[in-house]
Amino acid sequence: MKREVPFFNYPRAYLDHREDLLKIFDEVGKRGAFIMQKDLKDFELYLAKYTGAKYAIGVANATDGLELALMAIGLKPGDEVICCSHTMLATASSIRTAGGTPIPVELGEDNLIDPEAIENAINKRTVGIMPTQLNGRTCNMDRIMSIANKYNLFVVEDAAQALGSKFKGQHAGTFGQASAISFFPAKVLGCLGDGGGVITNDYGIFDKVYQLHDHGRDIDGEVKSWGRNSRLDNLQAAILNYHFERYDQVILRRRYIADIYQSRLGDLVELQLPPSTTSNKDHFDIYQNYELQADRRDKLKEHLKINGIGTLIQWSGKAVHQWEQLGFNFKLPKTEKFFERCIMLPMNMFISDDDAHYVCDQIIAFYGK
Ligand SMILES: Cc1ncc(COP(=O)(O)O)c(C=O)c1O
Repeated sequence: MKREVPFFNYPRAYLDHREDLLKIFDEVGKRGAFIMQKDLKDFELYLAKYTGAKYAIGVANATDGLELALMAIGLKPGDEVICCSHTMLATASSIRTAGGTPIPVELGEDNLIDPEAIENAINKRTVGIMPTQLNGRTCNMDRIMSIANKYNLFVVEDAAQALGSKFKGQHAGTFGQASAISFFPAKVLGCLGDGGGVITNDYGIFDKVYQLHDHGRDIDGEVKSWGRNSRLDNLQAAILNYHFERYDQVILRRRYIADIYQSRLGDLVELQLPPSTTSNKDHFDIYQNYELQADRRDKLKEHLKINGIGTLIQWSGKAVHQWEQLGFNFKLPKTEKFFERCIMLPMNMFISDDDAHYVCDQIIAFYGK
């Protein structure tokens, strides 16, 4: 029987928690606690504790977080920062708006930024690397950090999609000098609007990002520099505190859905699935997205749509360097090939086991198995 399995169900992000959320709105509202209040401070403490970072700052969104981290590090015009091209535009645009030049490079075998491509792109203008911890999987940070150390480059991780993801037991976002995490509603930890966080182990970067995000004021309220307003709303922080309590269970549920997809679809030669939960003990993935590569991708997407299943081809089906309007004028064949075949299946807390099996049934039927 036909089912509706949307790619992401935005109303349910609210409706599934409506009663608890209404209590939170009421409680925060009655306190008049809207800007930089206890809920935000608590959230920053949880975020730091959860990831093992020394410092966390709530910011308006992860794009701002990346930009502020780069500004805090002291990015200058002409400085080049190497990033993946298979990432959200925000990775590259944050480098640009912080004053530098993004240099998008190829993805590697694991479909994350290719360490060899990073090394090949390094020149005397290169100052940093911004790996994206994509789809909730942390890159092989041993390789990236050793390149950074060899060439004396900073690392700012785009951990927008990776809160809770680990490499060799260490949390995404804690390898480099700083990182940013997104709390966009569809993120594994999502609020009801825009939201982001910066984490760092470096007090100097913390202090500078703090100033930049609050009109140049430091934690004691003293104006120390020019800044702007990029604060995380206290109400959003209260919502995030509520979701944080169940965050590890949420990750386990997503990994369970990934296990269903893997067990049902793993044998289809027409598909290349993302790494399974057990494929490599160095990685703990949170499956922000379940992105696979498929033969006859567009036809598969259409078939799933007809059968009520929402899928997503990420970022309008284009890698960063394919936006010619942004001034890029080169080819990255592996990345471009990837974008011809990639598709994301529903992966969220709103799908039941039966929904996941239905998605698999439809894919199996499409390939005539
Ligand atoms: C990889 C990546 N980087 C950066 C961002 C930007 O996050 P935000 O929407 O919080 O600015 C996103 C958000 O989707 C993302 O997926």
